[in-house]
Amino acid sequence: MKKVQLTETVLRDANQSLMATRLPYKDYEGILSDMDKAGYYSIECWGGATFDSCLRYLGEDPWERLRGLRKNLPNTRLQMLLRGQNLLGYKHYHDDVVEKFIELSIKNGIDVIRIFDALNDFRNIETALNATKKYANSRTVASGCISYTQSPVHTVDKYIEMCKELKTMGFDTICLKDMAGTMSPYEAEHLIKGIKDAIGDMTLILHTHCTTGMAYMTITKAIESGIDVIDTATSCFSGGTSQPATETMFYALKQYGIETGLDEDIINKVNDYFKPVKQKYIDNGQLNPKSLATDAQALVYKVPGGMLSNMIANLTDMHAMDKFDAALAEIPKVRADLGYPPLVTPLSQMVGNQAVTNVLIGERYKNISKEVKNYIKGEYGIAPAPLDAELSKKVLGEDSPVDCRIEDQKRTGEEFTAAREALGDLCRSEEDVMSYICYPDQTMKFLKDRKAKEENEAVYTIEEM
Ligand code: CO
Repeated sequence: MKKVQLTETVLRDANQSLMATRLPYKDYEGILSDMDKAGYYSIECWGGATFDSCLRYLGEDPWERLRGLRKNLPNTRLQMLLRGQNLLGYKHYHDDVVEKFIELSIKNGIDVIRIFDALNDFRNIETALNATKKYANSRTVASGCISYTQSPVHTVDKYIEMCKELKTMGFDTICLKDMAGTMSPYEAEHLIKGIKDAIGDMTLILHTHCTTGMAYMTITKAIESGIDVIDTATSCFSGGTSQPATETMFYALKQYGIETGLDEDIINKVNDYFKPVKQKYIDNGQLNPKSLATDAQALVYKVPGGMLSNMIANLTDMHAMDKFDAALAEIPKVRADLGYPPLVTPLSQMVGNQAVTNVLIGERYKNISKEVKNYIKGEYGIAPAPLDAELSKKVLGEDSPVDCRIEDQKRTGEEFTAAREALGDLCRSEEDVMSYICYPDQTMKFLKDRKAKEENEAVYTIEEM
């Protein structure tokens, strides 16, 4: 019997897409032992924005959360999303930091590490892959992930080449990550058939979002074309900017005669559990029902929904909404000048802001942001297509672009020493050091609060006695 497995995203991407990753661990701890019996391919539960959100907003230690997940989900693969050399942040970290982060992630319970680079410059995911292999146990899966986008240079052949490269590099599985939800059923069919022909029986995964309304059609075509794993969210946390619904796909696949391995009663129980959780966050305003709707604009402008709302907010602040149409039309031009980067963080912000600047000043590239300059200098990696020659020359002058790997290859250990020194007696573990390296201010605050809380508890205990 043909098999398609499902990755449940409610704890990470659905949580991130619908409610800015504000779901605290205690809100779902009670359902984990049931989820462990559901029969998912994996549960995506860590990485992405969860790490930052734990420290910044929730007063949670992200490592403690991971250990809790591991303890309550002993039989299910725990999955995380990792931004290659950027780990869970926005800058390129040194190789020794990337390696340590992965060692600790696996040690604390992660099984599947899905690794991507915004530009699909695979030099930026190589260190993470090698570290995953180095610290792997029998359950570890290194998943190579492609940021999907559309442009004249992003052809089916190009994606097939990328997949072959990921296979040669030694990844165990490959994931197509359609973060803007713009992959159409037609594209899915051609892409997935082509890729499956090229990579043989290697597991292929499709990650998409319902944002534009395409996702169910696209996934259906993907299934017909041979996809092995799809990402879905329990139905009350599905749709809109999130993933398609787990139970819905379960019923559809069943009628196709395709086995999912899911337990029907349990996946329904999981949804029942999350219904009041969702309602709580609708009531307190953290889950905006707007994010549950369909927005097809991304298909017209090829601009992800989040990027549009950012642009509207910026232009409104500057009392320049009359420039909106011009700015919107400028985005594809800037993107072309920059060699068609996928519009994913941080490139979506960079391209959007530059387009707005060009339009507001009334002269293209009179002002170029520091980030765009660094991008043109090559600090983010190699762009999918050559950059506009005139623009490159304006930024680089007579210099050549830099190799984004030069800086990363340093192995100094300096960051670990500096973090230990900064933390002093607040530091209890290697995990504390790693949190500090990734998010220094948030971690410092979190660890100070932790210490204060422990001291209060100690005083309280003595008084009790
Ligand atoms: Co996603």
